[in-house]
Amino acid sequence: MRVLLIGSGGREHALAWKLAQSPLLSALYATPGNPGIGEEATLVDLDITDDSAVLGFCRRESIDFVVVGPEAPLVAGLADTLRAGGIAVFGPSAAAAQLEGSKGFTKDICAKYNIPTGAYQRFTSAEPAKAYVLEQGAPIVIKADGLAAGKGVTVAMTLDEALDAIDSCFSGTFGAAGAEVVVEAYLDGEEASFFCLCDGKTVLPFGSAQDHKRVGDGDTGPNTGGMGAYSPAPVMTAEMVERTMREIIEPTIAGMADSGHPFTGVLFAGLMITAKGPELIEYNVRFGDPECQVLMMRLKSDLLLLLHAAATGTLASARAEWRDEVALTVVMASKGYPGSYEKNTPIRKLPAEDSATKVFHAGTALNDGQLVATGGRVLNVTAMGRTVSAAQKAAYAALDGVEWDNGFCRRDIGWQAIERERD
Ligand code: AMP
Ligand code: GLY
Repeated sequence: MRVLLIGSGGREHALAWKLAQSPLLSALYATPGNPGIGEEATLVDLDITDDSAVLGFCRRESIDFVVVGPEAPLVAGLADTLRAGGIAVFGPSAAAAQLEGSKGFTKDICAKYNIPTGAYQRFTSAEPAKAYVLEQGAPIVIKADGLAAGKGVTVAMTLDEALDAIDSCFSGTFGAAGAEVVVEAYLDGEEASFFCLCDGKTVLPFGSAQDHKRVGDGDTGPNTGGMGAYSPAPVMTAEMVERTMREIIEPTIAGMADSGHPFTGVLFAGLMITAKGPELIEYNVRFGDPECQVLMMRLKSDLLLLLHAAATGTLASARAEWRDEVALTVVMASKGYPGSYEKNTPIRKLPAEDSATKVFHAGTALNDGQLVATGGRVLNVTAMGRTVSAAQKAAYAALDGVEWDNGFCRRDIGWQAIERERD
């Protein structure tokens, strides 16, 4: 199979690395890619916001299958254009990608199918939103409706923070994404990321992970795209997985099919495991980053076979097998992230890799042969272990071999699970 992978992050490096291991693969291209992806795929320079340019490349290079990594091209309809052009695509239609593209859309699905989630209301102007917040009290959560690169959510512990967040959304901080605001009840519990491959009707559970959203040790400081993750998430016991499938995922997939917009691709449920059980925080229509990196380390099955089955309606006969070990990844970011940071700082050395250690590239580039950091999140140092403690130890041992003066990381990735292991 001739495959094109869309994206340039650590998530796409992990996908490229795993796709490249497939016996079904005859050629792998990636766009825009990064130097790590370039070790697995031929990089091509395409404008991924230009659907017809991507389709044209697929025709010229006889691409059989396109795997879309990030959400923005899916919400913009890239999968629709490619499918209309006769090319198989891993990733949902624009209509089904509304599960990530509009928080209000997902909340309405939850209401319609009785899916457990925080009570909410949608607003298109500040005054009624503020009145609702004053009536509900804090803590409370304010969300810009549309895609805001992970920055559109304020978990307000006080009324003042909530009122400020409402003003900020409606004053245009998130552009069109903030033209509508969802105000949602605060959920208390432990978070988990849960993944399913979907072909429109069949759903295949595809592992769990825990992310670390805050920039600082002890879960302090501002939210980020994710500073580290491990898989599996211990909080996702067999009972929690079964309840999540029955109470959250299956009604969503059935509801999307009934509405004429069947969901295909990977459905990523951000869950809060509360005293009542699993509740939905949000859906994403792509793999998590850095969750994907730890899933790919653990996956034993052929990724290409599974993604193609999801894209072609043949998931009913597919199975996913996993290594028993834990995988843990630590994100190294440029100093200053998630705020502003210096670009093009040199990365002088990466650690040696083996079957249990892998460094995935995110925001890196090659400048005259020198590896440099160009993004906020830059490297994902990933390791396997029999326990979370062992995987953590191995990941930090590898990370200490990175020579990059402008990099930093959290030192406590895995803390919740390690506390459990100690108990
Ligand atoms: P989201 O972009 O919706 O994933 O939200 C970002 C982060 O905000 C989540 O990972 C949670 O840590 C937090 N969050 C979102 N919604 C809620 C909620 N209703 N209650 C508590 N925390 C939340
Ligand atoms: N790591 C969380 C996300 O990808 O949304």
